[in-house]
Amino acid sequence: MFYLHPINIAKAILRNTFSVSCFSTSKSGIICRAESMLILSKTAGVFSKPPKSNIYGLLRSFSVCPGRLFCHKLVLGIETSCDDTAAAVVDEAGHVLGEAMYSQTEVHLKTGGIVPPVAQQLHRENIHRIVEETLSASRISPQDLSAIATTVKPGLALSLGVGLSFSLQLVNRFKKPFIPIHHMEAHALTIRLTNKVGFPFLVLLISGGHCLLALVRGVSDFLLLGKSLDIAPGDMLDKVARRLSLIKHPEYSTMSGGKAIEHLAKQGNRFHFTINPPMQNAKNCDFSFTGLQHVIDKLITCKEKEEGIEKGQILSSAADIAAAVQYTTARHLAMRTHRAILFCKQKDLLSPANAVLVVSGGVASNLYIRRALEIVADATQCTLLCPPPRLCTDNGIMIAWNGIERLRAGLGILHDVEDIRYEPKCPLGVDISKEVAEAAIKVPRLKMTI
Ligand code: KG4
Ligand code: ZN
Repeated sequence: MFYLHPINIAKAILRNTFSVSCFSTSKSGIICRAESMLILSKTAGVFSKPPKSNIYGLLRSFSVCPGRLFCHKLVLGIETSCDDTAAAVVDEAGHVLGEAMYSQTEVHLKTGGIVPPVAQQLHRENIHRIVEETLSASRISPQDLSAIATTVKPGLALSLGVGLSFSLQLVNRFKKPFIPIHHMEAHALTIRLTNKVGFPFLVLLISGGHCLLALVRGVSDFLLLGKSLDIAPGDMLDKVARRLSLIKHPEYSTMSGGKAIEHLAKQGNRFHFTINPPMQNAKNCDFSFTGLQHVIDKLITCKEKEEGIEKGQILSSAADIAAAVQYTTARHLAMRTHRAILFCKQKDLLSPANAVLVVSGGVASNLYIRRALEIVADATQCTLLCPPPRLCTDNGIMIAWNGIERLRAGLGILHDVEDIRYEPKCPLGVDISKEVAEAAIKVPRLKMTI
């Protein structure tokens, strides 16, 4: 290890050339070194460059010690809303100091879906280790934290409870402010960690538990344009993957249902089966996936009879079915999002010159679905932005970043946690979906050649 004089570091920062390679890689694979941190802030451009004259001011906003450098405000984010135990430490410039995660996916795949008491038990068994690993990868102690941010809504009650009670123990022990986080708001704002995105922007949130279209006007200012009237796309894809018995397929046995469908669909022909997207005549921005799931279910039963195989065996047409369900899902999502963009433009809710569409949540890691949304964005002169796939699925970084956003905006920072409770159900923002339906915007048909 070598020593860098703080003045030289500051000068290098101002030139954006600072580079040190004496840092370690955490167990979870996040590189915790100053080089990668600075590149992140440089390319992401979340914050503008400081004026050249202010070297000493800049130095005061950094903590510098041999081999380490970060911005002063540090937030520990903790996520346990569903089946991932995750944590991360992020500083106010969006540098990830460290993260750790334990995914329960493989356990729940074996039981054919999430069993809440099992999820709770696994969170209990892992949360301590995950937070400890995060802090040690970050090379900070809890005393260095500015606040602790934790998902408290929406999610599985038993899972949320574990994260909240663990966090409150830390908060009380180290006398830190607490920032309660809305899981879907965190998914929506993750893009501001990786890209320079100002408000307002449109966001499509697609995950295992949610399907939402919202206009994001500020850190905690959301207008809800539409949502799923039944299940979420991730839930539907998980059910289809189970019905296709993909867990028995060696290549897909450890993947989430949605990811397995994406991979299998690459070998299929989407023209082999024609399935109409749901709700084509409803001129609103709501979604539905239950009907689609039943249609696929019937199709699989029919094919099983045709091929003379038992339920639970893998169909020879499984890849074609996966391709068809992925295509129909992509078209449904694209059509509703297209209407939302047109609505926002009609009502002057999005800047006509610089309209941004963000897609996030676990299902947004699907590259085929992203391509469909890119076609919509191109046709409406919008810029499509998606966080990298590993930041689309649940993670601790998005929770810590939401904590930073709230800290900077001075929103929802609690010093007294007496009354804090988790909320399994919680809407996102102000619901204006009726107004959207009343506008009854007709969406031109787009050619979806993906
Ligand atoms: O956001 P997330 O990690 O957890 C929730 O908050 O729900 O999303 C999980 C969902 C699961 O349903 C999973 O099957 C789906 O995201 N998913 C995908 C892909 N990767 C994960 N769906 C489609 N394509 C993928 N590549
Ligand atoms: Zn999520």
